[in-house]
Amino acid sequence: LSGFVTLDTGYKNTGCTKSAITFLDGEKGILKYRGYGIEELAEKSSFIEVAYLLIYGSLPTADQLKDFQFQISRHTLVHEDMKKFFDGFPSKSHPMGQLCSLVCSLSAFYPESLSPHPTKEEQNLTIIKLLAKMPTIVSWIYKKSLGHPIVYPQNKLDYVSNYLNMTFGQRTEEVEIDPVVVSAMNTLLILHADHEQNCSTSTVRIVGSSECNLYASISAGISALWGPLHGGANQAVIEMLEKIKNDGGDTEKWIAKAKDKNDPFRLMGFGHRVYKNFDPRAKIIKKACDDILDKLGIDDPVLDIAKKLEEVALSDPYFVERKLYPNVDFYSGIIYRALGFPTDMFTVLFALGRLPGWIAQWKEMRENKEPIGRPRQIYIGETDRAFVGIGDR
Ligand code: SDX
Repeated sequence: LSGFVTLDTGYKNTGCTKSAITFLDGEKGILKYRGYGIEELAEKSSFIEVAYLLIYGSLPTADQLKDFQFQISRHTLVHEDMKKFFDGFPSKSHPMGQLCSLVCSLSAFYPESLSPHPTKEEQNLTIIKLLAKMPTIVSWIYKKSLGHPIVYPQNKLDYVSNYLNMTFGQRTEEVEIDPVVVSAMNTLLILHADHEQNCSTSTVRIVGSSECNLYASISAGISALWGPLHGGANQAVIEMLEKIKNDGGDTEKWIAKAKDKNDPFRLMGFGHRVYKNFDPRAKIIKKACDDILDKLGIDDPVLDIAKKLEEVALSDPYFVERKLYPNVDFYSGIIYRALGFPTDMFTVLFALGRLPGWIAQWKEMRENKEPIGRPRQIYIGETDRAFVGIGDR
């Protein structure tokens, strides 16, 4: 090897870029988007305003926000030919597999998205179209899983209300979307909006670094998010809590399994590569959980299991020594379930929230003209081997 290579499997201690988008302090449990604390944004902002903040770098004025929403409202429809792709999926196929395929296929309809060196206008139109069509695609995937007719976008509604109407509304009647649900969705989407160089964002950056188009780069990020160690954890948490509930709620037994090195079982929703303290998002979501279930009058037994699991884990030396705390995925699934979503839609909702962050990071990488990502390796394989004909092997 020319020069020398430092091996850092999983990039635990490797910085891949300089970014001005999101700041994390894992020791102190701090998360800020463009310098604003997520606690304040979750309480005072809206998801579409946070999307603008992440992508363009500052909170919009009233006119900028109005124009942003207007631009988005003009592109919420998905090309009717895309229904042929929708129809091709088996109705029970995993929503994340459908989402990554459908997002990538957008490039087939919008040639301006394919230019490796787009003009500012072309790039912004590509960004607006993706932001606008994602809720439509996500809600159509949900309707398909139910065998229900799709509901078209209503451009008089705000971004989150429009998404909820396409998801829970019917073609035949206008349904009243509960403001509690709208507020809960805004909070959840804001808290998922970006998280510096996590697995899926690094994937979006490295795919985009080859001058690949935005839609294909985001589609790669969706694939990375699908994994149960990453965004797929919110689905795995509920499946784990259900299993513990059905097993008589014996949390000690499952904690013991999570500690057993011979047992592949891990406590889903616990631990984090960066946070060695409480994930600040988990704190906000835990509180929102109580509020929302209370307001919706829902008593979900898995919430009690979750709280007991957290209590037992946080008093166990194994978890304390390894600084394993609940992360963003631990409580989010309980809220999604209370809002009426099926478990296999949870990671799709994570992707809906993470979209503006992925876009912002891809845009920053391109604006900084960063080189194509190409890590090195330490070779440990065979050295010189002479070819042997198949008859002599
Ligand atoms: C997300 O990176 C991001 O920012 C991601 C994310 C985002 O917003 O983009 O925050 C979203 O992905 C949150 C994480 C969701 N994943 C899960 O909840 C899955 C369960 N968690 C683990 O798989 C794990 O904690 C990770 C993957 C999250 C982090 O893994 P690391 O940093 O590689 O840590 P590790 O596997 O080296 O674990 C260190 C030790 C090991 O024990 P020892 O070898 O030291 O004895 O802690 C143990 C691990 O076995 N451990 C766990 C555990 N997580 C770590 N043991 C039991 N249960 C767990 N959940």
